[in-house]
Amino acid sequence: MASISLALSSLSTTTNFRSFSVFPLETKYKSRRRITKVSCNGADDQNNMIYKGNRRDVLIGLGGGLGAAASFTYNPFAAFADPVVTNPRSCNRPNLPVGAQPIPCCPPNIGSDQVEDFVFPIVVQERVRKPVHLLSDKEIADYKEAIKRMRELSPDDPRSFTQQANIHCAYCHDSYALNGSTAPPQVKVHFNWLFAPFHRWYLYFYERILGSLIENDTFALPYWNWDHPDGMYIPDIFNDRRSSLYDAKRNANHLPPVLIDLNWNNRAGDTSGDVDTNLRKVKQSIADVKAPDTFFGKNFAEGGGQFPASGTLELLHNTGHAWTGDPTDPNGEDMGAFYSSGRDPLFYSHHSNVDRLWTIWKDRFGGVDFSDDDYKNSSFLFYDENGKLVRVTVDQCLNMSSLGYRYDNAPIPWEFAGEETTTPIKVQSLSLPPPSLPLILNSTQSFAVKRPSKSRSKEEKAKKEEILVFEVAFDKSKNVKFDVLLFWKGDATEASPKNKEFAGSFVNVSHAPSPKDLAVQYQIEISDLLDKLGADDEDNVEVTLVPQYGDVPVTINNAYVAYLQL
Ligand code: C2O
Repeated sequence: MASISLALSSLSTTTNFRSFSVFPLETKYKSRRRITKVSCNGADDQNNMIYKGNRRDVLIGLGGGLGAAASFTYNPFAAFADPVVTNPRSCNRPNLPVGAQPIPCCPPNIGSDQVEDFVFPIVVQERVRKPVHLLSDKEIADYKEAIKRMRELSPDDPRSFTQQANIHCAYCHDSYALNGSTAPPQVKVHFNWLFAPFHRWYLYFYERILGSLIENDTFALPYWNWDHPDGMYIPDIFNDRRSSLYDAKRNANHLPPVLIDLNWNNRAGDTSGDVDTNLRKVKQSIADVKAPDTFFGKNFAEGGGQFPASGTLELLHNTGHAWTGDPTDPNGEDMGAFYSSGRDPLFYSHHSNVDRLWTIWKDRFGGVDFSDDDYKNSSFLFYDENGKLVRVTVDQCLNMSSLGYRYDNAPIPWEFAGEETTTPIKVQSLSLPPPSLPLILNSTQSFAVKRPSKSRSKEEKAKKEEILVFEVAFDKSKNVKFDVLLFWKGDATEASPKNKEFAGSFVNVSHAPSPKDLAVQYQIEISDLLDKLGADDEDNVEVTLVPQYGDVPVTINNAYVAYLQL
Protein backbone atom coordinates (compact mmCIF):
# COMPACT_ATOMS: atom_id res chain seq x y z
CA MET A 1 0.00 0.00 0.00
CA ALA A 2 1.47 3.33 -1.02
CA SER A 3 1.93 5.77 1.76
CA ILE A 4 0.00 8.79 0.74
CA SER A 5 1.60 11.16 3.21
CA LEU A 6 5.04 10.25 1.94
CA ALA A 7 3.88 10.42 -1.63
CA LEU A 8 2.41 13.85 -1.25
CA SER A 9 5.26 15.35 0.67
CA SER A 10 7.68 15.51 -2.23
CA LEU A 11 7.47 17.55 -5.39
CA SER A 12 9.51 15.37 -7.64
CA THR A 13 10.58 16.72 -10.99
CA THR A 14 13.16 14.07 -11.64
CA THR A 15 11.35 11.07 -13.01
CA ASN A 16 9.26 12.76 -15.64
CA PHE A 17 11.04 15.91 -16.52
CA ARG A 18 12.38 15.77 -20.06
CA SER A 19 11.58 19.02 -21.73
CA PHE A 20 9.37 21.99 -21.28
CA SER A 21 7.71 24.46 -23.51
CA VAL A 22 7.03 28.09 -22.92
CA PHE A 23 3.81 29.78 -23.87
CA PRO A 24 3.57 33.50 -23.84
CA LEU A 25 0.23 34.55 -22.47
CA GLU A 26 -1.86 36.03 -25.24
CA THR A 27 -5.55 35.52 -25.68
CA LYS A 28 -7.42 32.68 -24.07
CA TYR A 29 -7.05 30.51 -27.13
CA LYS A 30 -3.75 31.71 -28.39
CA SER A 31 -2.23 30.84 -25.07
CA ARG A 32 -2.76 27.20 -25.91
CA ARG A 33 -0.55 27.41 -28.93
CA ARG A 34 3.07 26.52 -28.77
CA ILE A 35 5.19 29.48 -29.65
CA THR A 36 8.65 28.77 -28.34
CA LYS A 37 10.13 25.61 -27.07
CA VAL A 38 13.12 24.80 -25.00
CA SER A 39 14.06 21.20 -24.80
CA CYS A 40 16.82 19.31 -23.12
CA ASN A 41 18.15 15.91 -23.94
CA GLY A 42 18.15 13.36 -21.22
CA ALA A 43 20.88 10.84 -21.89
CA ASP A 44 23.77 9.91 -24.11
CA ASP A 45 24.38 7.70 -27.11
CA GLN A 46 26.00 4.98 -25.07
CA ASN A 47 22.94 3.88 -23.19
CA ASN A 48 20.77 4.42 -26.21
CA MET A 49 18.51 6.87 -24.47
CA ILE A 50 18.80 9.86 -26.74
CA TYR A 51 15.68 11.91 -26.61
CA LYS A 52 14.36 12.16 -30.13
CA GLY A 53 11.02 13.84 -29.88
CA ASN A 54 9.68 16.96 -28.30
CA ARG A 55 7.66 15.53 -25.51
CA ARG A 56 5.05 17.80 -24.09
CA ASP A 57 3.27 15.56 -21.64
CA VAL A 58 5.65 16.74 -19.00
CA LEU A 59 4.40 16.55 -15.49
CA ILE A 60 5.90 19.23 -13.37
CA GLY A 61 5.60 19.19 -9.63
CA LEU A 62 4.33 15.66 -9.75
CA GLY A 63 2.31 15.42 -6.58
CA GLY A 64 2.73 11.68 -6.38
CA GLY A 65 6.45 11.83 -5.73
CA LEU A 66 7.79 8.52 -4.61
CA GLY A 67 4.41 6.98 -4.20
CA ALA A 68 3.57 7.66 -7.80
CA ALA A 69 6.89 6.52 -9.14
CA ALA A 70 6.68 3.26 -7.26
CA SER A 71 3.44 2.28 -8.84
CA PHE A 72 3.93 3.58 -12.37
CA THR A 73 3.26 0.64 -14.59
CA TYR A 74 4.12 2.09 -17.93
CA ASN A 75 7.62 2.34 -19.16
CA PRO A 76 9.18 5.74 -18.52
CA PHE A 77 11.56 5.11 -21.43
CA ALA A 78 8.62 5.66 -23.75
CA ALA A 79 9.78 9.23 -23.93
CA PHE A 80 12.99 8.07 -25.58
CA ALA A 81 11.36 5.65 -27.97
CA ASP A 82 11.03 5.65 -31.71
CA PRO A 83 7.79 6.30 -33.52
CA VAL A 84 5.44 3.40 -33.95
CA VAL A 85 6.07 1.73 -37.28
CA THR A 86 3.73 -1.05 -38.26
CA ASN A 87 5.62 -4.09 -39.46
CA PRO A 88 4.03 -5.63 -42.57
CA ARG A 89 6.11 -8.79 -42.14
CA SER A 90 4.60 -9.59 -38.81
CA CYS A 91 0.85 -9.73 -38.53
CA ASN A 92 -0.29 -12.37 -36.07
CA ARG A 93 -3.56 -13.84 -34.94
CA PRO A 94 -5.43 -11.37 -32.77
CA ASN A 95 -5.54 -11.56 -29.01
CA LEU A 96 -9.32 -11.85 -28.56
CA PRO A 97 -11.49 -11.89 -25.44
CA VAL A 98 -13.22 -15.04 -24.23
CA GLY A 99 -16.36 -15.74 -26.22
CA ALA A 100 -15.16 -14.15 -29.44
CA GLN A 101 -15.15 -16.32 -32.53
CA PRO A 102 -11.52 -16.95 -33.42
CA ILE A 103 -10.83 -15.10 -36.65
CA PRO A 104 -7.56 -14.21 -38.29
CA CYS A 105 -7.66 -10.42 -38.62
CA CYS A 106 -4.59 -9.95 -40.79
CA PRO A 107 -5.08 -8.82 -44.35
CA PRO A 108 -4.61 -11.43 -47.08
CA ASN A 109 -1.04 -11.86 -48.26
CA ILE A 110 0.35 -9.24 -45.98
CA GLY A 111 4.06 -9.83 -45.68
CA SER A 112 4.40 -10.84 -49.30
CA ASP A 113 3.30 -7.46 -50.56
CA GLN A 114 5.46 -4.52 -51.32
CA VAL A 115 4.70 -1.50 -49.21
CA GLU A 116 4.87 1.87 -50.84
CA ASP A 117 4.92 5.21 -49.09
CA PHE A 118 1.59 6.84 -49.64
CA VAL A 119 1.36 9.84 -51.94
CA PHE A 120 -1.83 11.91 -51.99
CA PRO A 121 -3.74 11.80 -55.25
CA ILE A 122 -4.44 15.15 -56.83
CA VAL A 123 -7.78 16.34 -55.52
CA VAL A 124 -10.03 17.60 -58.26
CA GLN A 125 -13.10 18.09 -56.15
CA GLU A 126 -13.33 18.26 -52.39
CA ARG A 127 -15.41 15.64 -50.59
CA VAL A 128 -17.80 17.21 -48.11
CA ARG A 129 -18.89 15.05 -45.18
CA LYS A 130 -22.44 15.78 -44.01
CA PRO A 131 -24.67 14.57 -41.19
CA VAL A 132 -26.34 11.25 -42.04
CA HIS A 133 -29.77 12.61 -41.13
CA LEU A 134 -29.44 15.46 -43.65
CA LEU A 135 -28.36 13.46 -46.70
CA SER A 136 -30.29 13.87 -49.94
CA ASP A 137 -32.02 10.84 -51.47
CA LYS A 138 -29.27 10.60 -54.05
CA GLU A 139 -26.58 10.68 -51.36
CA ILE A 140 -28.37 7.99 -49.38
CA ALA A 141 -28.69 5.82 -52.47
CA ASP A 142 -24.98 6.25 -53.22
CA TYR A 143 -23.99 5.35 -49.66
CA LYS A 144 -26.10 2.20 -49.66
CA GLU A 145 -24.93 1.16 -53.10
CA ALA A 146 -21.26 1.69 -52.26
CA ILE A 147 -21.49 -0.43 -49.08
CA LYS A 148 -23.48 -3.06 -50.96
CA ARG A 149 -20.70 -3.35 -53.54
CA MET A 150 -18.08 -3.44 -50.82
CA ARG A 151 -19.96 -6.30 -49.18
CA GLU A 152 -20.08 -8.13 -52.53
CA LEU A 153 -16.32 -8.12 -53.01
CA SER A 154 -14.59 -11.41 -52.33
CA PRO A 155 -13.69 -11.60 -48.62
CA ASP A 156 -10.03 -11.94 -49.48
CA ASP A 157 -10.05 -8.70 -51.43
CA PRO A 158 -8.43 -6.14 -49.10
CA ARG A 159 -11.10 -3.62 -50.14
CA SER A 160 -13.97 -5.92 -49.10
CA PHE A 161 -16.20 -5.14 -46.15
CA THR A 162 -14.84 -8.18 -44.30
CA GLN A 163 -11.28 -6.98 -44.68
CA GLN A 164 -12.17 -3.40 -43.82
CA ALA A 165 -13.71 -4.63 -40.56
CA ASN A 166 -10.64 -6.78 -39.91
CA ILE A 167 -8.38 -3.75 -40.07
CA HIS A 168 -9.84 -2.56 -36.79
CA CYS A 169 -9.52 -5.99 -35.23
CA ALA A 170 -5.86 -6.25 -36.21
CA TYR A 171 -4.91 -2.81 -34.91
CA CYS A 172 -6.87 -3.16 -31.67
CA HIS A 173 -6.10 -6.74 -30.73
CA ASP A 174 -2.33 -6.97 -30.87
CA SER A 175 -1.93 -8.41 -34.36
CA TYR A 176 0.78 -6.10 -35.61
CA ALA A 177 4.20 -6.20 -34.10
CA LEU A 178 6.17 -3.02 -34.08
CA ASN A 179 8.73 -2.71 -36.81
CA GLY A 180 11.68 -4.99 -36.35
CA SER A 181 10.12 -7.08 -33.63
CA THR A 182 7.71 -9.91 -33.22
CA ALA A 183 7.39 -9.71 -29.47
CA PRO A 184 5.26 -7.34 -27.40
CA PRO A 185 4.55 -4.51 -27.21
CA GLN A 186 2.35 -4.60 -30.27
CA VAL A 187 0.86 -1.70 -32.15
CA LYS A 188 -2.11 -0.30 -30.26
CA VAL A 189 -4.37 2.43 -31.51
CA HIS A 190 -6.54 2.95 -28.44
CA PHE A 191 -5.67 4.38 -25.05
CA ASN A 192 -2.94 6.51 -26.58
CA TRP A 193 -2.22 9.40 -28.93
CA LEU A 194 -2.53 7.23 -32.05
CA PHE A 195 -6.30 7.00 -31.61
CA ALA A 196 -7.23 10.11 -33.61
CA PRO A 197 -4.78 9.79 -36.53
CA PHE A 198 -5.22 6.05 -36.94
CA HIS A 199 -9.00 6.35 -37.29
CA ARG A 200 -8.69 9.34 -39.61
CA TRP A 201 -6.58 7.27 -41.96
CA TYR A 202 -8.85 4.27 -41.63
CA LEU A 203 -11.86 6.34 -42.74
CA TYR A 204 -9.86 8.01 -45.46
CA PHE A 205 -9.23 4.74 -47.27
CA TYR A 206 -12.68 3.35 -46.50
CA GLU A 207 -14.21 6.47 -48.08
CA ARG A 208 -11.91 6.33 -51.10
CA ILE A 209 -12.69 2.66 -51.68
CA LEU A 210 -16.44 3.30 -51.44
CA GLY A 211 -16.14 6.21 -53.87
CA SER A 212 -14.23 4.13 -56.36
CA LEU A 213 -16.74 1.26 -56.14
CA ILE A 214 -19.50 3.62 -57.32
CA GLU A 215 -17.15 5.65 -59.50
CA ASN A 216 -17.94 8.80 -57.62
CA ASP A 217 -14.89 10.83 -56.71
CA THR A 218 -16.92 13.17 -54.54
CA PHE A 219 -18.35 10.43 -52.33
CA ALA A 220 -17.93 11.57 -48.72
CA LEU A 221 -18.49 9.47 -45.63
CA PRO A 222 -21.47 10.98 -43.80
CA TYR A 223 -21.23 11.41 -40.05
CA TRP A 224 -23.54 10.31 -37.26
CA ASN A 225 -24.27 13.74 -35.82
CA TRP A 226 -24.90 12.62 -32.22
CA ASP A 227 -23.79 15.97 -30.88
CA HIS A 228 -26.86 17.64 -32.39
CA PRO A 229 -30.41 17.07 -31.06
CA ASP A 230 -31.60 16.02 -34.55
CA GLY A 231 -28.87 13.40 -34.84
CA MET A 232 -29.06 11.83 -31.36
CA TYR A 233 -30.52 8.52 -32.48
CA ILE A 234 -29.32 5.73 -34.75
CA PRO A 235 -30.01 7.26 -38.16
CA ASP A 236 -32.98 5.72 -39.93
CA ILE A 237 -31.04 4.55 -42.97
CA PHE A 238 -29.09 2.16 -40.73
CA ASN A 239 -32.23 0.54 -39.38
CA ASP A 240 -33.80 -0.74 -42.58
CA ARG A 241 -33.27 -4.50 -42.56
CA ARG A 242 -33.04 -4.69 -46.34
CA SER A 243 -30.29 -2.08 -46.53
CA SER A 244 -26.57 -2.74 -46.81
CA LEU A 245 -26.21 -0.34 -43.85
CA TYR A 246 -28.09 -2.63 -41.50
CA ASP A 247 -26.42 -4.69 -38.83
CA ALA A 248 -28.39 -7.13 -36.68
CA LYS A 249 -26.01 -6.95 -33.72
CA ARG A 250 -27.17 -3.77 -32.05
CA ASN A 251 -28.94 -3.03 -28.80
CA ALA A 252 -32.62 -3.67 -29.58
CA ASN A 253 -33.62 -1.21 -26.83
CA HIS A 254 -31.69 1.61 -28.44
CA LEU A 255 -33.46 1.94 -31.74
CA PRO A 256 -35.23 5.19 -32.68
CA PRO A 257 -36.93 7.10 -31.24
CA VAL A 258 -34.69 6.31 -28.26
CA LEU A 259 -32.03 9.01 -28.00
CA ILE A 260 -28.40 8.09 -27.58
CA ASP A 261 -27.15 8.54 -24.02
CA LEU A 262 -23.61 9.90 -24.17
CA ASN A 263 -23.38 9.34 -20.44
CA TRP A 264 -24.80 5.82 -20.62
CA ASN A 265 -24.61 3.98 -17.31
CA ASN A 266 -25.94 0.63 -18.48
CA ARG A 267 -28.52 0.39 -15.71
CA ALA A 268 -31.35 -2.12 -15.73
CA GLY A 269 -34.30 -0.80 -17.69
CA ASP A 270 -32.26 2.08 -19.01
CA THR A 271 -34.23 4.69 -20.86
CA SER A 272 -33.66 7.27 -23.54
CA GLY A 273 -30.79 9.70 -23.23
CA ASP A 274 -31.60 13.38 -22.92
CA VAL A 275 -30.47 16.28 -25.05
CA ASP A 276 -29.15 18.46 -22.26
CA THR A 277 -26.97 15.73 -20.73
CA ASN A 278 -25.61 14.83 -24.14
CA LEU A 279 -24.74 18.41 -25.05
CA ARG A 280 -23.01 18.96 -21.72
CA LYS A 281 -21.07 15.76 -22.08
CA VAL A 282 -19.80 16.78 -25.52
CA LYS A 283 -18.91 20.25 -24.31
CA GLN A 284 -17.00 18.86 -21.33
CA SER A 285 -15.13 16.40 -23.55
CA ILE A 286 -14.27 18.79 -26.39
CA ALA A 287 -14.69 22.52 -25.72
CA ASP A 288 -13.44 22.44 -22.14
CA VAL A 289 -10.23 20.53 -22.85
CA LYS A 290 -7.03 22.46 -23.45
CA ALA A 291 -4.03 20.13 -23.73
CA PRO A 292 -3.34 17.51 -26.41
CA ASP A 293 -2.43 14.99 -23.72
CA THR A 294 -5.84 15.23 -22.12
CA PHE A 295 -7.72 15.55 -25.42
CA PHE A 296 -6.01 12.86 -27.54
CA GLY A 297 -4.30 10.69 -24.94
CA LYS A 298 -0.68 10.18 -24.08
CA ASN A 299 2.24 9.06 -26.15
CA PHE A 300 2.72 5.54 -27.34
CA ALA A 301 5.95 4.92 -29.13
CA GLU A 302 7.96 1.87 -30.01
CA GLY A 303 9.34 0.23 -26.92
CA GLY A 304 7.07 2.40 -24.87
CA GLY A 305 4.23 1.92 -22.52
CA GLN A 306 1.51 -0.58 -23.23
CA PHE A 307 -1.42 1.51 -22.10
CA PRO A 308 -0.50 5.10 -21.41
CA ALA A 309 -3.77 7.09 -21.31
CA SER A 310 -6.70 7.90 -23.50
CA GLY A 311 -8.03 11.38 -23.98
CA THR A 312 -11.49 12.84 -23.65
CA LEU A 313 -12.20 12.48 -27.38
CA GLU A 314 -11.70 8.74 -27.16
CA LEU A 315 -13.50 8.35 -23.83
CA LEU A 316 -16.54 10.18 -25.19
CA HIS A 317 -16.59 8.00 -28.29
CA ASN A 318 -16.31 4.83 -26.19
CA THR A 319 -19.79 5.38 -24.84
CA GLY A 320 -21.15 5.48 -28.41
CA HIS A 321 -19.69 2.00 -28.89
CA ALA A 322 -20.96 0.55 -25.63
CA TRP A 323 -24.45 2.03 -26.05
CA THR A 324 -24.86 0.64 -29.58
CA GLY A 325 -23.56 -2.93 -29.12
CA ASP A 326 -25.86 -5.89 -28.52
CA PRO A 327 -26.10 -6.59 -24.77
CA THR A 328 -27.19 -10.18 -25.43
CA ASP A 329 -23.76 -10.94 -26.86
CA PRO A 330 -21.15 -11.73 -24.19
CA ASN A 331 -18.75 -9.15 -25.60
CA GLY A 332 -21.33 -6.65 -26.81
CA GLU A 333 -20.78 -7.35 -30.52
CA ASP A 334 -20.66 -5.63 -32.89
CA MET A 335 -20.09 -2.05 -31.75
CA GLY A 336 -19.47 -2.90 -28.10
CA ALA A 337 -16.14 -4.64 -28.73
CA PHE A 338 -13.27 -3.40 -30.85
CA TYR A 339 -12.56 -6.66 -32.70
CA SER A 340 -16.13 -6.66 -34.08
CA SER A 341 -17.12 -3.00 -34.25
CA GLY A 342 -15.93 -2.56 -37.84
CA ARG A 343 -18.57 -5.09 -38.90
CA ASP A 344 -21.28 -2.52 -38.28
CA PRO A 345 -21.46 0.14 -41.03
CA LEU A 346 -22.57 2.56 -38.35
CA PHE A 347 -19.03 2.36 -36.92
CA TYR A 348 -17.62 4.41 -39.80
CA SER A 349 -20.23 7.15 -39.50
CA HIS A 350 -19.67 7.18 -35.72
CA HIS A 351 -15.97 7.73 -36.34
CA SER A 352 -16.63 10.32 -39.01
CA ASN A 353 -18.21 12.39 -36.23
CA VAL A 354 -15.26 11.71 -33.90
CA ASP A 355 -12.92 12.91 -36.65
CA ARG A 356 -15.10 15.97 -37.12
CA LEU A 357 -14.91 16.79 -33.40
CA TRP A 358 -11.13 16.74 -33.72
CA THR A 359 -11.31 19.40 -36.44
CA ILE A 360 -13.80 21.43 -34.40
CA TRP A 361 -11.51 21.29 -31.36
CA LYS A 362 -8.73 22.78 -33.45
CA ASP A 363 -10.68 25.26 -35.58
CA ARG A 364 -13.14 26.51 -33.02
CA PHE A 365 -11.55 25.95 -29.64
CA GLY A 366 -7.89 26.61 -30.35
CA GLY A 367 -6.75 23.02 -29.87
CA VAL A 368 -3.30 22.19 -31.17
CA ASP A 369 -1.97 18.87 -32.46
CA PHE A 370 1.09 17.25 -30.95
CA SER A 371 4.27 18.33 -32.66
CA ASP A 372 6.48 15.52 -31.35
CA ASP A 373 8.52 13.70 -33.95
CA ASP A 374 7.58 10.35 -32.43
CA TYR A 375 3.97 11.24 -33.11
CA LYS A 376 4.36 12.66 -36.59
CA ASN A 377 6.61 9.85 -37.78
CA SER A 378 4.43 7.02 -36.52
CA SER A 379 2.97 5.10 -39.43
CA PHE A 380 0.26 2.61 -40.34
CA LEU A 381 -0.43 0.28 -43.26
CA PHE A 382 -3.58 0.43 -45.36
CA TYR A 383 -4.77 -0.82 -48.70
CA ASP A 384 -5.85 1.97 -51.01
CA GLU A 385 -8.77 1.97 -53.45
CA ASN A 386 -6.65 0.06 -55.98
CA GLY A 387 -5.82 -2.67 -53.50
CA LYS A 388 -2.26 -1.43 -53.11
CA LEU A 389 -0.57 -1.65 -49.71
CA VAL A 390 0.65 1.78 -48.59
CA ARG A 391 2.35 3.21 -45.56
CA VAL A 392 0.98 6.46 -44.20
CA THR A 393 2.38 8.66 -41.48
CA VAL A 394 0.56 10.55 -38.77
CA ASP A 395 2.12 13.77 -40.03
CA GLN A 396 0.49 13.36 -43.42
CA CYS A 397 -3.01 13.40 -41.97
CA LEU A 398 -2.72 16.48 -39.77
CA ASN A 399 -3.36 18.92 -42.60
CA MET A 400 -6.97 18.58 -43.72
CA SER A 401 -6.50 20.20 -47.09
CA SER A 402 -4.22 17.48 -48.43
CA LEU A 403 -6.74 14.83 -47.37
CA GLY A 404 -9.25 16.18 -49.88
CA TYR A 405 -12.27 16.21 -47.59
CA ARG A 406 -13.82 18.57 -45.13
CA TYR A 407 -16.89 18.70 -42.91
CA ASP A 408 -19.89 20.85 -43.68
CA ASN A 409 -20.43 23.74 -41.32
CA ALA A 410 -23.07 22.14 -39.13
CA PRO A 411 -24.00 24.09 -36.01
CA ILE A 412 -22.31 23.37 -32.69
CA PRO A 413 -25.23 23.36 -30.26
CA TRP A 414 -23.08 22.31 -27.30
CA GLU A 415 -20.62 25.17 -27.42
CA PHE A 416 -22.02 26.81 -24.28
CA ALA A 417 -24.04 23.90 -22.90
CA GLY A 418 -24.70 24.27 -19.18
CA GLU A 419 -23.00 27.64 -18.89
CA GLU A 420 -26.18 29.65 -18.61
CA THR A 421 -26.98 28.01 -15.29
CA THR A 422 -23.51 28.18 -13.84
CA THR A 423 -23.40 30.60 -10.97
CA PRO A 424 -20.08 30.49 -9.15
CA ILE A 425 -20.42 28.72 -5.85
CA LYS A 426 -18.21 28.12 -2.88
CA VAL A 427 -17.89 24.48 -1.98
CA GLN A 428 -17.51 23.24 1.55
CA SER A 429 -14.74 20.83 2.28
CA LEU A 430 -15.80 17.62 4.00
CA SER A 431 -12.29 17.04 5.36
CA LEU A 432 -12.11 13.64 3.74
CA PRO A 433 -9.12 11.36 4.41
CA PRO A 434 -6.69 10.35 1.67
CA PRO A 435 -7.53 7.16 -0.26
CA SER A 436 -6.31 3.88 1.02
CA LEU A 437 -4.43 2.55 -2.01
CA PRO A 438 -4.90 0.37 -3.93
CA LEU A 439 -8.57 1.21 -3.88
CA ILE A 440 -11.01 -1.38 -5.18
CA LEU A 441 -13.88 0.43 -6.81
CA ASN A 442 -16.74 -1.90 -6.00
CA SER A 443 -18.75 0.91 -4.46
CA THR A 444 -18.75 4.70 -4.49
CA GLN A 445 -15.58 6.05 -2.89
CA SER A 446 -14.76 9.54 -1.71
CA PHE A 447 -11.34 10.75 -0.62
CA ALA A 448 -9.04 13.76 -0.64
CA VAL A 449 -6.05 14.24 -2.92
CA LYS A 450 -3.41 16.74 -1.85
CA ARG A 451 -2.73 19.65 -4.20
CA PRO A 452 0.95 20.58 -4.49
CA SER A 453 -0.08 24.21 -4.89
CA LYS A 454 -3.25 26.26 -4.68
CA SER A 455 -4.59 29.70 -5.58
CA ARG A 456 -2.27 29.96 -8.55
CA SER A 457 -2.20 33.18 -10.54
CA LYS A 458 -4.01 33.54 -13.85
CA GLU A 459 -0.67 33.60 -15.64
CA GLU A 460 0.41 30.35 -14.02
CA LYS A 461 -2.87 28.71 -14.89
CA ALA A 462 -2.49 29.75 -18.50
CA LYS A 463 0.91 28.08 -18.59
CA LYS A 464 0.19 24.94 -16.63
CA GLU A 465 -3.04 23.07 -16.30
CA GLU A 466 -3.78 21.38 -12.99
CA ILE A 467 -4.70 17.77 -13.66
CA LEU A 468 -6.04 14.99 -11.53
CA VAL A 469 -4.40 11.70 -12.44
CA PHE A 470 -5.63 8.22 -11.63
CA GLU A 471 -3.80 5.00 -12.33
CA VAL A 472 -6.49 2.54 -13.16
CA ALA A 473 -6.07 -1.22 -13.42
CA PHE A 474 -8.80 -3.49 -14.82
CA ASP A 475 -9.41 -6.24 -17.32
CA LYS A 476 -9.23 -4.48 -20.71
CA SER A 477 -11.50 -7.04 -22.32
CA LYS A 478 -14.44 -5.80 -20.20
CA ASN A 479 -16.60 -2.77 -20.73
CA VAL A 480 -16.20 -0.41 -17.78
CA LYS A 481 -17.40 3.04 -16.73
CA PHE A 482 -16.89 5.14 -13.64
CA ASP A 483 -17.59 8.82 -13.07
CA VAL A 484 -15.49 11.39 -11.25
CA LEU A 485 -16.98 14.26 -9.27
CA LEU A 486 -15.23 16.90 -7.20
CA PHE A 487 -16.49 18.13 -3.83
CA TRP A 488 -19.66 16.11 -4.37
CA LYS A 489 -22.19 15.87 -1.56
CA GLY A 490 -25.11 14.39 -3.43
CA ASP A 491 -26.25 10.85 -3.88
CA ALA A 492 -24.18 8.63 -6.17
CA THR A 493 -27.23 7.68 -8.21
CA GLU A 494 -27.68 11.32 -9.17
CA ALA A 495 -24.18 11.81 -10.57
CA SER A 496 -24.49 13.31 -14.05
CA PRO A 497 -22.83 15.85 -16.33
CA LYS A 498 -25.65 18.15 -15.24
CA ASN A 499 -24.00 18.51 -11.83
CA LYS A 500 -21.45 21.28 -11.70
CA GLU A 501 -19.25 18.94 -9.66
CA PHE A 502 -19.02 16.44 -12.53
CA ALA A 503 -15.43 16.16 -13.78
CA GLY A 504 -15.59 13.33 -16.31
CA SER A 505 -16.05 9.64 -17.02
CA PHE A 506 -13.61 6.83 -17.54
CA VAL A 507 -15.00 4.42 -20.15
CA ASN A 508 -13.43 1.27 -21.56
CA VAL A 509 -14.63 -0.68 -24.57
CA SER A 510 -13.60 -4.33 -24.72
CA HIS A 511 -10.29 -4.75 -26.51
CA ALA A 512 -7.27 -7.04 -26.29
CA PRO A 513 -7.18 -8.81 -22.91
CA SER A 514 -4.17 -7.93 -20.84
CA PRO A 515 -2.93 -8.53 -17.32
CA LYS A 516 -5.41 -6.98 -14.92
CA ASP A 517 -2.72 -5.14 -13.05
CA LEU A 518 -1.48 -3.29 -16.12
CA ALA A 519 -2.65 0.21 -15.30
CA VAL A 520 -3.64 3.03 -17.59
CA GLN A 521 -3.75 6.65 -16.60
CA TYR A 522 -6.88 8.70 -16.52
CA GLN A 523 -6.10 12.41 -16.48
CA ILE A 524 -8.64 15.17 -16.00
CA GLU A 525 -8.06 18.89 -16.39
CA ILE A 526 -9.38 20.55 -13.24
CA SER A 527 -8.20 24.20 -13.16
CA ASP A 528 -11.43 25.67 -14.55
CA LEU A 529 -13.64 23.31 -12.61
CA LEU A 530 -12.00 24.22 -9.29
CA ASP A 531 -12.53 27.88 -10.12
CA LYS A 532 -16.20 27.30 -10.90
CA LEU A 533 -16.59 25.46 -7.63
CA GLY A 534 -14.83 28.23 -5.73
CA ALA A 535 -12.36 25.60 -4.54
CA ASP A 536 -9.05 26.95 -5.77
CA ASP A 537 -7.97 27.87 -2.26
CA GLU A 538 -8.52 24.35 -0.90
CA ASP A 539 -5.46 22.33 0.13
CA ASN A 540 -7.01 19.14 -1.21
CA VAL A 541 -9.25 18.23 -4.05
CA GLU A 542 -12.06 16.06 -2.73
CA VAL A 543 -12.89 13.32 -5.17
CA THR A 544 -15.85 10.99 -5.47
CA LEU A 545 -15.59 7.99 -7.81
CA VAL A 546 -18.89 6.40 -8.82
CA PRO A 547 -18.59 2.99 -10.48
CA GLN A 548 -21.35 2.68 -13.11
CA TYR A 549 -20.71 -0.65 -14.79
CA GLY A 550 -18.10 -3.33 -15.29
CA ASP A 551 -18.09 -7.06 -14.66
CA VAL A 552 -15.08 -6.82 -12.42
CA PRO A 553 -14.23 -3.87 -10.20
CA VAL A 554 -11.48 -1.60 -11.32
CA THR A 555 -8.60 -0.83 -9.00
CA ILE A 556 -7.27 2.65 -8.45
CA ASN A 557 -3.54 2.18 -7.86
CA ASN A 558 -2.79 5.83 -7.37
CA ALA A 559 -4.41 9.25 -7.40
CA TYR A 560 -2.53 12.53 -7.44
CA VAL A 561 -2.54 16.08 -8.71
CA ALA A 562 0.05 17.16 -11.25
CA TYR A 563 0.60 20.02 -13.71
CA LEU A 564 0.63 19.80 -17.45
CA GLN A 565 2.40 22.35 -19.65
CA LEU A 566 -0.01 24.08 -21.97
CU1 C2O B 1 -10.93 1.99 -32.85
CU2 C2O B 1 -14.27 3.50 -32.12
O1 C2O B 1 -12.60 2.60 -32.12
